[in-house]
Amino acid sequence: MKISILYGTETGNAEMLAEDIQAELDAAHDVTCDNLADTDPTALDPTRFYLLVCSTYGDGELPASAQPFAEAIDKAGPDLSNVHFAIFGLGDSEYHETFNGGPKRLAELMIARGARQIGDRIAHDASGPDLAEDIAFPWAEQVLAEAEERLGAPA
Ligand SMILES: Cc1cc2nc3c(=O)[nH]c(=O)nc-3n(C[C@H](O)[C@H](O)[C@H](O)COP(=O)(O)O)c2cc1C
Repeated sequence: MKISILYGTETGNAEMLAEDIQAELDAAHDVTCDNLADTDPTALDPTRFYLLVCSTYGDGELPASAQPFAEAIDKAGPDLSNVHFAIFGLGDSEYHETFNGGPKRLAELMIARGARQIGDRIAHDASGPDLAEDIAFPWAEQVLAEAEERLGAPA
C-alpha cells in the first residue's frame, strides 16, 4: 500500500516524528513524507493512505505549517469521500482547555468533506510519561493493518 505521511508543525517536533515513522515503515512500504504546507487538499490521492502527524499551537490552534492546508479545505471544499486517513496529535496537557485542539480541528475538517478516518485520533501529551514515538510506531502498524483491510491491497 502506498502511504503518505503529512505533518503539520510549528517548531519541528511533528516533522521529526513524521520522519521517524517514515523510517520505521520504509522497509516494508512505499512511504512519502511531506509538510502539510506543501500539500494541496484538492489533490489527495484515494489510492494512498494518509498518516497525519500534527501539533497544536497558540491557543489550541493548528500550527503554522498546517494552516494553509486547513484554509484551502475551507475555501475549496474538496470532495474527500474516497480519502482514508489516520491522525496522530502532539500537544501538552499543561494547556488544559485546548489540549490537542489542532489535530482535532484538522480531523473534523477532513471528515466534514467526507474523508474516512481509520482508528481513533491519538492525543499525545508532552507532559505525560510516554515518548511520542513509543506510541506512534505501534499506532502506525495498527492503522496500516486496518487500512489494508479496507483499501484492499497489502503492501
Ligand atoms: C506557545 C505554545 C503554545 C502551545 N499551545 C498548545 C495548546 O494550546 N494545546 C496543546 O495541546 N499543546 C500546545 N502546545 C504544545 C505543543 O503542541 C507541543 O510542544 C508540540 O510538541 C509542538 O510540536 P511542533 O514542534 O511540531 O509544533 C503549545 C506549545 C507552545 C510552545
